[in-house]
Formats: sequence, C-alpha cells, structure tokens
Amino acid sequence: MATIPAPAGPPATLLYNEWYPALRSERLQGHQLVSTLLLGIPMVLGRRADGRLFAMRDNCPHRGIPLSCGWFDGKTLTCKYHGWSFEPVSGQCVEIPSLTSHDNLDPTKIYGTAFPCEERDGHAWVYVPEPGSGRMRVGDPALPPVPEVPKFSERFRSAHLTADLPCNVDHGIIGLMDPAHGPFVHQSWWWRKQASIHEKEKRFEPIPQGFRMASHAPSANSAPYKLLGVYGEPIATTIDFVLPNRRYETIRCGDKWFSSLTTVTPTTPTACRIDVVGAWNVLYSVPFLTSILRFFGNMFVRQDQVTMIQQAQGLRYDPALMLIDDADKPAKWYFALKQARLESVRTGEPMKHPIDGPVTLRWRS
Ligand code: FES
Ligand SMILES: [Fe+2]
Repeated sequence: MATIPAPAGPPATLLYNEWYPALRSERLQGHQLVSTLLLGIPMVLGRRADGRLFAMRDNCPHRGIPLSCGWFDGKTLTCKYHGWSFEPVSGQCVEIPSLTSHDNLDPTKIYGTAFPCEERDGHAWVYVPEPGSGRMRVGDPALPPVPEVPKFSERFRSAHLTADLPCNVDHGIIGLMDPAHGPFVHQSWWWRKQASIHEKEKRFEPIPQGFRMASHAPSANSAPYKLLGVYGEPIATTIDFVLPNRRYETIRCGDKWFSSLTTVTPTTPTACRIDVVGAWNVLYSVPFLTSILRFFGNMFVRQDQVTMIQQAQGLRYDPALMLIDDADKPAKWYFALKQARLESVRTGEPMKHPIDGPVTLRWRS
C-alpha cells in the first residue's frame, strides 16, 4: 500500500446513524485486538471466542488509555492501567479489581462505549450513532440492515480492494461517481486512450437516499460476452448511489452476474478510505480469474489513489472549486442529498429528495 501523506484540505460534515466498514474481518483472529479510526472516533475491534465481533471506543472510561493496550482473553477485555474488565459487545464493566467489600460501587453499572458490529462480505461493519444519542445494540429494531453486496446465486466468488485517500470523504465520494476522469486517470494502451473519448447519454432516476443509473443493452452476441458464456441474453446494468457512501453496481445477463459494493468511509473528517467488494458467478470455473480481476481492480484503485494524493496537495491551500453540468451532476446530487439528509436530522422532518424524477445526462468520456 502507498504511504499516505498528512491529510489536507477542509473537513467534511459527517453522517451518523449509519453502518460503515471499519476493517477486513479476517484481521480479527484469536485474541487479537485491532485499533482503527472511524469518523474520527478511535475504535478497538476484536472477535469473541463465540465468533461475535465487537467494536468499542478505544478509550477506557476510567482514565482514557486505549483499551487496545490491554488484554483480551476471548471473553473480556481488560484495561492495562487498573485492570477494569469489560464485556466488549455490550461494553459493560464486569470487574474493578481495586474494589473492596467496603465499596458500594457496582461495576456493572459502568459502561465503556460499545458500537453495534457485524460481519458482512469480509468486513467488520460498525454502526456509528449520532454522538450523544445513547447506546445502540445489535438486534435493536431501529438499526438499519447491514449493507451487503448483491448476490444472485448460491455459488459465487468474491474479492476485496482497499485504498486510503488523504482527502475528506466528500472528495472521495465525488471522485467515485465522477464519469469524466476515466480517459485521463485510467488511460492505458490496452484499456482506453484519451482519443477514445465519445459522447455518452445515461438515464438517472431518484431512489430512496440516492439515485440510480440504469441501462439495458441489447442482446449479448459480441465476442467478449460469448467468451463469458453468455449468448443472446440482454444485459442489464444498474449503478446505485445511496447515502451515506455506497455505490452498488450490478451487471446481470441471464443467470450470469457480477456485482460490487464500493464504499468511501471517513476515517477522520479530513481523510477517508475506499473499499471495494466484488462478487460474481461468471466464469466460475476459470482458476485464475480472481487473480486477474484483483490485478486490474488494484491497478484502477491505485490510479485513483495516486490522483487523489496529488489532488490533496492542491486542496491543502483550500482553493475555490467548480462543479459543471452534466459531467459533475452526480456530484451535485450527492451534495444536495447530503444537505437534505442533514436538514432532516436537524428538523426531525422526513428527508426531502432533491431529485424529482428521471433525468438524462450527457457527457463525453
Ligand atoms: S484507565 Fe482503564 S482501568 Fe484505569
Ligand atoms: Fe476512477
């Protein structure tokens, strides 16, 4: 992974009451404690002996030392400073070793901050409530479902990609939905050149908390599709953006499918991380396809990452920026959606969707 310079540019307003991927769940093995940052909050994650993941604020409620400096035995997390022990899924304190029979403090009335944490598609997802809104538990009916990459068959393969970006989450997200950078950032002799730029026309429509680009290509009779084992079936592609940070892409053709979920997660108000989970059942039996897809996927993500590291050098000086029509329209919608969401949080009114109906956008890329 590339080394990331100090984050630059102004902070982004963060959206709470959402699930965010904290880290790859394969890192949570045995009695390992892994610390990370999510929305600027230090977190410690681990896996209980019964398999349940947990995420606690990485500060002991006694004197603030990171709990990740302590010990975890598969059941309780013990602070290294004065040995207070916590059940890490609930955050409940179970023991304060310094108490004597003369003390009337009940340790179980004390809680560290625990966040709902669930494993999905190889990530540990953490639900981050609005600060000061009280405790939330896994199983609470108010919790939205954990985001998931769409899957359309029992058998499938999957792969993951990740990259840290030294810019705030808004720049990460508008970079994710930016249709015009492809021929410049992702040019290569075998993929596309600047000269291959041509006019595109795509139809968008509002969906809850976001928007969808849907397209139905005519039947798949071209050679590459035949190679994929697809004959004469129409191809349907949809790309959805959903607040706070999710891009779902699905490509379906008969019973063959490829899908991905890409998220841009604020680690702090001025830095973010992009995570991609891809899943597919095309060419299921080709042994090296996963490595090949991972190779090209990685190359794409690195190209974006390098560009955003360079952009961050410019953003450090807080320059004035522009959004143009139609190529930056998705970015404008993102800001409008986020504004509408923050407004609804502020007023308690239902969110007013900023897109009133289907829209056709045109750009050259
Ligand atoms: S700081 Fe953790 S037990 Fe005292
Ligand atoms: Fe890109």
